[in-house]
Amino acid sequence: MPKRQIIIDTDPGQDDAMAILLALGSPQELELLGITCVAGNVPLDLTCKNARITCEAAGRADVPVYAGCGAPLERPLVTAEHVHGLTGLDGPDLWEPQMPLAEGHAVDFIIHTLRRHPPGTVTLATLGPLTNIGAAFRKAPDIISRVQEIVMMGGAYFEVGNITPAAEFNIYVDPEAAECVFKSGAALTVMPLDVTHKALATKPRIDAFRALGSKVGTFAAEMLDFFERFDTEKYGSDGGPLHDPCVTAYLIRPELFSGKHVNVEVEVQSDLTRGMTVADWWRVTDRAPNAMFMDQVDADGFFSLLTERLARL
Ligand code: BDR
Ligand code: CA
Repeated sequence: MPKRQIIIDTDPGQDDAMAILLALGSPQELELLGITCVAGNVPLDLTCKNARITCEAAGRADVPVYAGCGAPLERPLVTAEHVHGLTGLDGPDLWEPQMPLAEGHAVDFIIHTLRRHPPGTVTLATLGPLTNIGAAFRKAPDIISRVQEIVMMGGAYFEVGNITPAAEFNIYVDPEAAECVFKSGAALTVMPLDVTHKALATKPRIDAFRALGSKVGTFAAEMLDFFERFDTEKYGSDGGPLHDPCVTAYLIRPELFSGKHVNVEVEVQSDLTRGMTVADWWRVTDRAPNAMFMDQVDADGFFSLLTERLARL
């Protein structure tokens, strides 16, 4: 498989941090051109800080980290400290990152990177609300046809909502940006809750990270010890869902996932169902398919990959 050039757009978040670590541990498959931060799980200053802490934990202070949008395109920000803690990365003892933010706005970095590289060679791996991508597509529509693929954590069909009964968090926070992405025509692969709720960080799986005995292994285990408590209490499951690493795992080992190419529309009007991803799973309309919508993951294979790649850091 040829190496893929990617931009990770993110709002760390413990599971975002795990997704970034998986990418950093996989240089043979992924060339990380930059990390673009967005407000989501916590406000922008904290997501920018947490992305840099994650890079430093992996010894990769050289990765450019850009600050992006601090609020959704057309709405006030909704955050998720109740899931991720006040820092967004509760669990390990956090430090003040030494690496500076890269100069310039994340949206401009996304635009310039897509214009600078040959069409069809840069993939956007999105782990948070789609504000930066929506803003880039609105500002520079010419870049849309240059995107190789957008691989997104967001949405749900069978699992429906986690932040409201109807909506998944990343789509709920900025439904207008999500709508812009789903309607863009860019090749789109979606990791919804239907997949991520099958990728549970059980105690033995967290212990496997701890047993690496490295700085990154301990960092990962301490993050997930904190992160899993919310969903295990809520769902009564064996562990918390590791949402965002499904995106980077797919870019490394696509065969771990399966789903259907279907039409997905985003609800932007209704207060009751704002941010709902209406997936035509059973193809009951003639709306054209616009997304590869995943619903299955080989969870053991996924966690083996994570452990193997974190061991390389
Ligand atoms: C998504 O929302 C955030 O809390 C997680 O980081 C993930 O991206 C799951 O709904
Ligand atoms: Ca996230």
